Amino acid sequence: MKNKMKIMILGADGYLGWPMAIDLCFKQYNLILIDNYIKRKLQKKYKRLPLDNISKIESKLKILKKINKNIDFYNIDCTNFDALSKIFKKTKPDAVIHFAELPSAPYSMFGSNESWKTLQNNLQSTFNLAWCVKTYNSNCHIIKLGTMGEYGTPNIDIEEGWIDINHKKRNQKFLYPRQGSSLYHTSKIMDTDLLWFYVRLYNLRVTDLMQGPVYGINTHNELDTSLYPMFTYDDMFGTIINRFIVQAVAGIPLTIYGSGHQIRGYINIKDTIKCINLAIKNQPRRGDLKIFNQFTEQFNVKDLANKISKSLKLLDIKTKIQKINNPRIEKEKHYYNAKNSGMKKLGLKPTLLTDKIIIEIAKYVISNKDKINKSIILPRSNWK
Ligand SMILES: NC(=O)c1ccc[n+]([C@@H]2O[C@H](COP(=O)([O-])OP(=O)(O)OC[C@H]3O[C@@H](n4cnc5c(N)ncnc54)[C@H](O)[C@@H]3O)[C@@H](O)[C@H]2O)c1
Repeated sequence: MKNKMKIMILGADGYLGWPMAIDLCFKQYNLILIDNYIKRKLQKKYKRLPLDNISKIESKLKILKKINKNIDFYNIDCTNFDALSKIFKKTKPDAVIHFAELPSAPYSMFGSNESWKTLQNNLQSTFNLAWCVKTYNSNCHIIKLGTMGEYGTPNIDIEEGWIDINHKKRNQKFLYPRQGSSLYHTSKIMDTDLLWFYVRLYNLRVTDLMQGPVYGINTHNELDTSLYPMFTYDDMFGTIINRFIVQAVAGIPLTIYGSGHQIRGYINIKDTIKCINLAIKNQPRRGDLKIFNQFTEQFNVKDLANKISKSLKLLDIKTKIQKINNPRIEKEKHYYNAKNSGMKKLGLKPTLLTDKIIIEIAKYVISNKDKINKSIILPRSNWK
């Protein structure tokens, strides 16, 4: 049955955007996909290609249109206000899922051009989206991907987005204090502030999802392998769990930056998709900025490496773990206790990092083992 709701996905070609598009395509939403392939261009420029050679959206649209004909793709840059507003005005989406950012901390710390490009791209795409919504359809629900990295590693519990402050016997609810440890994370903090400004002044409705590092694959087994998402494992665009699994399969040590005591909250890509579906179904009231901490489990890096190493023994893969100098400036020993009950209250049943899940990812990597480029894994972006 046709689902009347119109959803625009900004950054639909990305690691998260593409599987999200496929999921919503199956659910028969009316879809408008947007991407300018900047990630692919940067992967080529910095010689850090993904594991598999994934074709561009234009050539895959035919397969999706067989499942759902209400799906269109536009190759535009979200930082170009005229281009974005033209499509926004024409389509008037009910919700926009905003993935269209440069999400790499190492890229954002590579040099001044990369730092500025991250700030400019991320802020301008968020600003243009907020402006389009405010001007052309202020009822539209913005679902924005934020990051747990916005909070940093404070010495108190991390709440879901907001904190009640009692100061000299008066109370006020504020955005939870944030302190990013890269220009990328700082750009996400600025995004949140920008959206909060538009919510306060213009009564927009926004869900900001503070997501932890994502891992895994969402392959929709029933689909053609040409529809698989991009899987990156390099030092610039890869995320840690995927990188560790590639290192293990390639027979090279799992590299821990610094002491390995850094704790973060992680999430399986299957749960990213479930959370965004929950956000679509539970839109905030006008004038409300809803914030969720989107992760399912906390690990320190050392335990994560040991866990992956143990699971992969079941596939007869022997791994070594090696500590290397930390290229980042971050606290290596710290308190970390982040709340994540919001999504569970809406119905999320977490997919945990079990042996089965690690093996599932490893089997995908093994099927592409000959394509692993070992020279792009060790860190080459240094904060110091
Ligand atoms: N992957 C993670 O572990 C993770 C964790 C926390 C938060 N996030 C957030 O989720 C979002 C998506 O992450 P991802 O891993 O899918 O990233 P990704 O780089 O794979 O995807 C982003 C997509 O947006 C596109 N894009 C970027 N700027 C654009 C622009 N100006 N115009 C049009 N398209 C543009 C890129 O080409 C790319 O296809 C990001 O905002 C990121 O900050 C990701």
